[in-house]
Amino acid sequence: MKRKVLGTLLVSTMASAAMMAAPVMAEDVNLADAKVGVCIYQFSDNFMTLFRTELENYLVSLGFSAENITIQDGANDQATQSNQIDAFIADGVDVLIINPVNSSSAETITDKVVNAGIPLVYINREPSADEEARWADNNWDVTYVGCDARQSGTMQGEIIADLGLDTVDLNKNGKIDYIMIEGDPENVDAQYRTEFSVKALQDAGLEVECLDDQVGNWDQATAQNLVANSLSMKADDIEVVFCNNDAMALGALQSIEAAGRTVGTDIFLVGVDALDEALENVASGKMTGTVFNDHISQSHSAADAAVNYLTGAGNEHYIGCDYVKVTADNVADIQAQLK
Ligand code: BGC
Repeated sequence: MKRKVLGTLLVSTMASAAMMAAPVMAEDVNLADAKVGVCIYQFSDNFMTLFRTELENYLVSLGFSAENITIQDGANDQATQSNQIDAFIADGVDVLIINPVNSSSAETITDKVVNAGIPLVYINREPSADEEARWADNNWDVTYVGCDARQSGTMQGEIIADLGLDTVDLNKNGKIDYIMIEGDPENVDAQYRTEFSVKALQDAGLEVECLDDQVGNWDQATAQNLVANSLSMKADDIEVVFCNNDAMALGALQSIEAAGRTVGTDIFLVGVDALDEALENVASGKMTGTVFNDHISQSHSAADAAVNYLTGAGNEHYIGCDYVKVTADNVADIQAQLK
């Protein structure tokens, strides 16, 4: 594998791998000359919009020049994104930051990027453990920056469990009757949030009953339709609506209100991400809670990791970030943090 050297990039004498992705600056690396290619799976995704905006701003604040940062919309199509990656390689970018459309395509993506000698930072959609193991085994300049979605699912379940069975078990059948609205099932975030939200209820000693489990693909309008349909079929038995993200929780809320139900009184609703609108809903009681998916810390870590590759400092092959549980108790703090 040839390792591409950026301009006057030094051969590093620094520590081989930074534990965290804090940027390790070297005097003779001119970030303003470095070309960064960024692939986002889909621009219309609310969360990834926050992520990419913060990523671009932070890269510029580190010294990259805006005209050398190119961000492409994969339009939720892996073939489109693969073409964009090929074009970035042909263009000779110095580092790539990739939010894959399909995590299962990571092996192919890694191979072509590594063969081109370009360091690679995956974000948001975590490749498989086997794929991550290859990076370490081959000592490739490839890493993943993201959160552990198990934690967000667990926090969603805990938000409901903390209310207690008496409060949530409105039909008094001794169980938590819920519906689940899932994100794209190819994505581990969706798989883990679905699994671990329910597991947290069970771990708290609660019995659960799944009344409906549907795929909303992270999308508000899709979730709105699905929840309207569930509510019309299962009517009053639904006590909890779990949504794998806030966009879908916002859609769920529209249908909950249209059905004449009231969150906090006769139904409970949780999401993930801490979108502004979701935080407003948590503050006003229209959502029971959400989980802060820290796009600021993740985008900064991704940019810092890119810098560490450019300087030769290198990175660990997994760079994590914690989620934060958000309820009426701490929503004002999170809102203040995000201002
Ligand atoms: C976010 C979702 C987003 C997805 C995109 C997840 O971590 O919670 O809102 O749609 O990433 O991959």
